[in-house]
Amino acid sequence: MKIGIFDSGLGGLTILKQIVHTLPQYDYIYLGDNARVPYGGRSSEIIYEFTRQAVEFLFTQNCQLVILACNSATANALRRLQQEYLPRHYSQHRILGIIKPTIEYLVENNISKVGIIGTYATVESGAYQREIYKVLPQAQVNQWSCPLLVPLIEENESDSPAATLILKEYLRPLKTTKPQTLLLACTHYGLIKERIKKLASKKIAVIDQGLLVALKLKQYLQQHPEIDHKLSRQKKRIYYVTDLNPRFKKIAKMFISGSLAITKVSL
Ligand code: DGL
Repeated sequence: MKIGIFDSGLGGLTILKQIVHTLPQYDYIYLGDNARVPYGGRSSEIIYEFTRQAVEFLFTQNCQLVILACNSATANALRRLQQEYLPRHYSQHRILGIIKPTIEYLVENNISKVGIIGTYATVESGAYQREIYKVLPQAQVNQWSCPLLVPLIEENESDSPAATLILKEYLRPLKTTKPQTLLLACTHYGLIKERIKKLASKKIAVIDQGLLVALKLKQYLQQHPEIDHKLSRQKKRIYYVTDLNPRFKKIAKMFISGSLAITKVSL
């Protein structure tokens, strides 16, 4: 059985890349719901429904474990999927998100003064602040949303002068909040991490979630041999999208080496 990686669009490729690099032996299926991206401005209810459909698709494609490589989906759908959907329909399967491993990383690295940028759906869910304060009550967390970044990235427009202006505006709160670390809590932002680093003060460490999620997954599989034993190891990579547009292929090629066969599916 395979490992499924799900995102609303391209952003999850930043997570897939690091997971494949860290755990190359397994078989992976990537699903990007790019026909319905962005999720970030949608209601919690609809994000839950879209995510449930995506997870169901990946389970029917023989995935034992699905990683929600999307903060908006993790913040708005993961708990309900784990508590209601899995026990009723797929009790032997697992769904993991990317917020918990990120919080663990912050704690392990003593990062307590943190700026967080993400989509409306992630920021408004309050999930990061809630989880960080649980384990680091003394933390200073400032978070804000950057709603135009995902569409710019999906449209391959993130290098344009307009995008630079928007990005500068979105990074302005760094000047007053002065965090030790800026967390890119949207997997799409990993695609423009270097540009964000250039525009932010050199004193601020900018972190994305790819590597830390990959390392936590490795740990999870070591701790859960009952799941690990079910996973096939033929180094297969399969890519599904819900809309086959040329921009997806172009950007995906920057992340995926070798031949890239992408299939369009309906959820
Ligand atoms: N990449 C996603 C995230 O991490 C969501 C982007 C979107 O669909 O708005 O939040």
